[in-house]
Amino acid sequence: MFHHVKELQFNVRVSRPDPRFAGLLLEQFGGGNGELKAAMQYFVQAFSARRPYPDKYDMLMDIATEEFSHLEIVGATVQLLLEGVNGELKNAADNAEIMETLKGKAAKESYIHEAMMHPEFLTRSGGGPTLTNCQGVPWTGSYINANGDLSVDLRSDIAAESRAKIVYEYLLQFTDDPYVKETLTFLMTREVAHFQMFEAALGTIQPNFPPGVLQADPRYSNNYFNMSDGNGVDQRGPWNEGESPELGETWQYIRDPVKHVSATNGLLDQQPSGTQQTLEDMEAQNKALSETRSKEASAGMPKGSAEWCTYK
Ligand SMILES: [Fe+2]
Repeated sequence: MFHHVKELQFNVRVSRPDPRFAGLLLEQFGGGNGELKAAMQYFVQAFSARRPYPDKYDMLMDIATEEFSHLEIVGATVQLLLEGVNGELKNAADNAEIMETLKGKAAKESYIHEAMMHPEFLTRSGGGPTLTNCQGVPWTGSYINANGDLSVDLRSDIAAESRAKIVYEYLLQFTDDPYVKETLTFLMTREVAHFQMFEAALGTIQPNFPPGVLQADPRYSNNYFNMSDGNGVDQRGPWNEGESPELGETWQYIRDPVKHVSATNGLLDQQPSGTQQTLEDMEAQNKALSETRSKEASAGMPKGSAEWCTYK
């Protein structure tokens, strides 16, 4: 269950209204790397994690709930940055007031002008946050990555935290309000913290590479195809020479892929090289890991009716 606490996780302050920055900040309210995306991603992932990994279910729900708290912080900041727009719009019976503002008072005029850059504040939300990105595109469930395999999901989460972090870093360059900077720095820092939590959790799932259950075909897992020609320089580095970082195989650099593909009957005749792994090993590992993962997923599953909770 969710239980709302009226205080925020972080004490949000702003020095003055700033509808221009409120508009940019919507990116972290209803944008593709924003707080609602993060909250919903971890929330959705948690369900399939619960049976095999109850410890990670707990972590995902904690972090999802913290992200909802961050959504609340961003919403509250947007609201404070829009103070004024809201008041003007609520003066519905006497629109002379806002007209007068536009005609007469220079400071207010420029303020309303800034708000006009985000017309949704004026015409749709009445001076509050909208669940859109900074360009007014509505939030969508397609932002969510949840694939039902925790090693895949945690990698998506590490990427999501990296993206959220860099968006805060960019946003920090567009406000000089020290209070707003304080809040954004807090939110940015929590992305750094969450990144490490997901990374540590991934390390507790063994084996976690390759993601999922089925092993890589050793004929192809260490091939590097040199797929671009021109200027005479083919770059080499640890991504195509030496040992591969996860499987520990030796990278096989295929300098001329067109020639190689025809010489191997479209790779069908290619044999494993630069690896200890055989096709027989792969099949044996597939079978063993399938059984382990299946047992984990159905561990303690009751026969007949099932219930989620035990109330103590
Ligand atoms: Fe986060």
